[in-house]
Amino acid sequence: MSASGQADLVIVANRLPVDRVTDDDGNASWRRSPGGLVSALEPVLRQNDGAWIGWPGGTDDELEPFVEDGMSLVPVHLSASEVEEFYEGFSNGTLWPLYHDVVAKPEFHREWWDAYVVVNERFATKAASVAAEGAMVWVHDYQLQLVPQMLRELRPDLRIGFYLHIPFPPGELFQQLPWRRQILQGLLGADVVGFQLAGGAGNFIRLVRQRVGHKTHRDLVYLPDERTVRAAAYPISIDTEGFEELARSESVAARAAEIREALGNPATLFLGIDRLDYTKGIYARLRAYSELVRDGDLDVEDSVFVQVATPSRERVEQYILIREEIEQLVGQVNGDLGEIGKPVISYLHSSYPKEEMAALYRAADVMVVTPFRDGMNLVAKEYVACRFDGDGALVLSEFAGAANELRQAWLVNPYDINGMKQALVDAHRSTDRERRKRMKAMRRTVVEHDVKAWADEFLRELSQVRESHGKTVRPARRS
Ligand code: G6P
Repeated sequence: MSASGQADLVIVANRLPVDRVTDDDGNASWRRSPGGLVSALEPVLRQNDGAWIGWPGGTDDELEPFVEDGMSLVPVHLSASEVEEFYEGFSNGTLWPLYHDVVAKPEFHREWWDAYVVVNERFATKAASVAAEGAMVWVHDYQLQLVPQMLRELRPDLRIGFYLHIPFPPGELFQQLPWRRQILQGLLGADVVGFQLAGGAGNFIRLVRQRVGHKTHRDLVYLPDERTVRAAAYPISIDTEGFEELARSESVAARAAEIREALGNPATLFLGIDRLDYTKGIYARLRAYSELVRDGDLDVEDSVFVQVATPSRERVEQYILIREEIEQLVGQVNGDLGEIGKPVISYLHSSYPKEEMAALYRAADVMVVTPFRDGMNLVAKEYVACRFDGDGALVLSEFAGAANELRQAWLVNPYDINGMKQALVDAHRSTDRERRKRMKAMRRTVVEHDVKAWADEFLRELSQVRESHGKTVRPARRS
């Protein structure tokens, strides 16, 4: 951000890219959050006098903008009731399940919607005050779908991009939403609306035609005010190089060996790493695995399933319920089938730094990613990035966006328990040659298309719209 407080590139996301940490003496400081989005955008932000607007988490005092790690960060405050109604309520109790195939039942409450409007307005106002004349503003994800239109009304000079990180549902589901028209109109405030998959973009275009009545052609929407909106797929990726470098480090290699040792050096280590979310299919996957142990297809003596479940949205009812179900299953399975020092499932309800994740990826023989629905699933890509040794098997749900690119994984339908059991056994018994062949092809995909390529492509598209006005954002040089 320049001295005048105006930025040529503004990122607007529900969360800031830093987490507040408090040391033993009670001193608070900021730590960069581990997400790939930050690593992709940080260099572009630096080069374009950029700013990032987001919620710092919690309901603490209103914070002033600050600079961290060379990035200008602009906090947006949420009150306790807004956390309940906007974040836990409309964002994660209504939109999240609705957009994920109604895996859980979405709740529709008018007060939640009202809070969603108010908070989106706050983000839009903040963005309008931070963006320089003709700047590019990139709004992220389902929590902020009204921001593009609100911002356009305040600042018609801006180029506005929107990216949805989660699936955009088919009309049959989306139409349940009492506020469907407002959401579509909110998104149409953007010049470019990006989705993970072409299917999501198609759903959006169709809904705009049917529900709002605008003309569309392929990936373009023609608005009455002569403006056009492009809606297309830009599948997100990860910092492939960063992950591989980490995985190659001696400390991660040592930690991977230590993990295997602590588990009794099993012949096969199965691994799941997910936010503890009902969309991830953790319960079904653990059931499939435990049935294999019960049936004697796998032996607790020489295989183990490590499931990391990162705490998430812990006050939302559906999350409380799924946690109870998973933990009951783990307890039951270990009680029935485990032996002393040999659990069937080693379950960890905790979040870990990137180094530990890389060590787990290196240690795992079979990575199991079986969501019922997932926008992309970056864990699948991270696993592939960390397997520079060319080994390791990936069992992947057809319903994760990543399955579109990682075609060589053992693809499964997570609703089909027997099918999942078969895929786990097939991956487990696969020959070295078969695994390497598949891994090689998948590695090529994640190396060729990393998060930097994703961000560059989206920003390039955005800088090309309405070429006549607005500034062009310079892509960051690769370091
Ligand atoms: C998903 C969403 C993100 C969200 C993240 C963590 O990846 O697409 O927008 O930030 O989950 O969830 P949380 O609710 O903790 O922000």
